[in-house]
Amino acid sequence: MFGIRAPKKTSTAANAVVTGAGSGIGRAFALEIAQRGGAVLCSDINLESATETVQLIEQAGGQAWACRCDVSQLAEVEALAAKADELLPASVDLVVNNAGVGVGGQPIGEVSIDDWKWTLGINLWGVIHGCHVFTPRLRKLGRGGIINVASTASFSAAPLMGPYNVTKAGALALSETLSAELAGTGVSVTALCPTLVKTNINANGRIVGDSSKLLDRLMSRLGMSAQRVARDTLNALDRGDLYVMPQFDARMIWRAKRLIPRTYAGAAGLISRFGTSRLH
Ligand SMILES: NC(=O)c1ccc[n+]([C@@H]2O[C@H](COP(=O)([O-])OP(=O)(O)OC[C@H]3O[C@@H](n4cnc5c(N)ncnc54)[C@H](O)[C@@H]3O)[C@@H](O)[C@H]2O)c1
Repeated sequence: MFGIRAPKKTSTAANAVVTGAGSGIGRAFALEIAQRGGAVLCSDINLESATETVQLIEQAGGQAWACRCDVSQLAEVEALAAKADELLPASVDLVVNNAGVGVGGQPIGEVSIDDWKWTLGINLWGVIHGCHVFTPRLRKLGRGGIINVASTASFSAAPLMGPYNVTKAGALALSETLSAELAGTGVSVTALCPTLVKTNINANGRIVGDSSKLLDRLMSRLGMSAQRVARDTLNALDRGDLYVMPQFDARMIWRAKRLIPRTYAGAAGLISRFGTSRLH
C-alpha cells in the first residue's frame, strides 16, 4: 500500500509538561491536551491547585500527574524534567512554559526593584529555564513542540506595566530565536500573545491601584476564555505557526506598532490615561 502519511499533530496524544497548570491559561492547556488524548504533568508553585487540575482531567477520563515546581529556580525545573521522565508514558514531546505573574500600576522609577526581580524571575527566567532544560531533549527526540506564553505586552509598550512588558518582550525574543535555531529539527516553537484572558492573574499578582480596577473591569467585559486561547494555540502549534494572537486587538496593535511606531507610542500613553480617568 502506497500513500503519504500525514505527520502526527504535535498536540495529539502528547506527553506534555505544563507550568503554572493550577489556574487560568495553564489549567486550560492541561485540560485541552488531555482531551486530545495526551498525558500531562501539571506543575505549579501551588501543588494544591495543580492537583485540582489533575482531578479535573481524571474526572474527564484523562491521564495526568501533579508536581510542585517554582519555575524561577533552575534546579526545580531540572527536577520537573526528571519527574516527567519518571511519570509520563513516553518522552516529553510538548512543553508549555506558561507560569507567570502580573505586575502593574506604577511607572518606571516608582515600581520597586523587588517587583522587577520577582516578575523577571518568574515570567522571564521561568521561560528561559524551561527552554534551557527541555530543548536538548526535544532536539534529540527530533519532534515535538514548545509553547511559550508571552503576551501582547511583548510589543504593546502599555504604560505602567514596565516589568511585565520587559519579561514578555524577552519571552517573545527567546521564542523567535529558538524557532530559528530549531528550524529543520522537527521541533516547533509557538509564542502565544493574547490581550485579555479571563483568569486569576489580577488576584494572584502585584497589580495596584486604578490599573487593577481597570484590568478587572476590562477582563470581565472583553476577556477571552482561557479554554478558547488554549485550543487556538494548540491548533497553531500543529500548523507550525510561530505567533499566535488569538484576539483582533492584539493583531491590530502588532500591525500599528510596525506601520506607525512613533504615533503608536504617543497613542498608547493617551489611551492608558483615558482608561484610568474613566474609573473616577
Ligand atoms: N490573563 C491574561 O489576560 C493574560 C494575557 C496575556 C498573557 N498572560 C500570561 O498567561 C500566563 C498564565 O497566566 P494566567 O492569566 O492564567 O494567570 P493565573 O494567575 O490564573 O495563573 C498563573 C499560574 O501560574 C502559577 N505560578 C505563579 N508563579 C509561579 C512560579 N514561580 N512557578 C510556577 N508556577 C507559578 C500560579 O500559581 C498560577 O497557577 C502568564 O504567563 C501570563 O503572563 C495572561
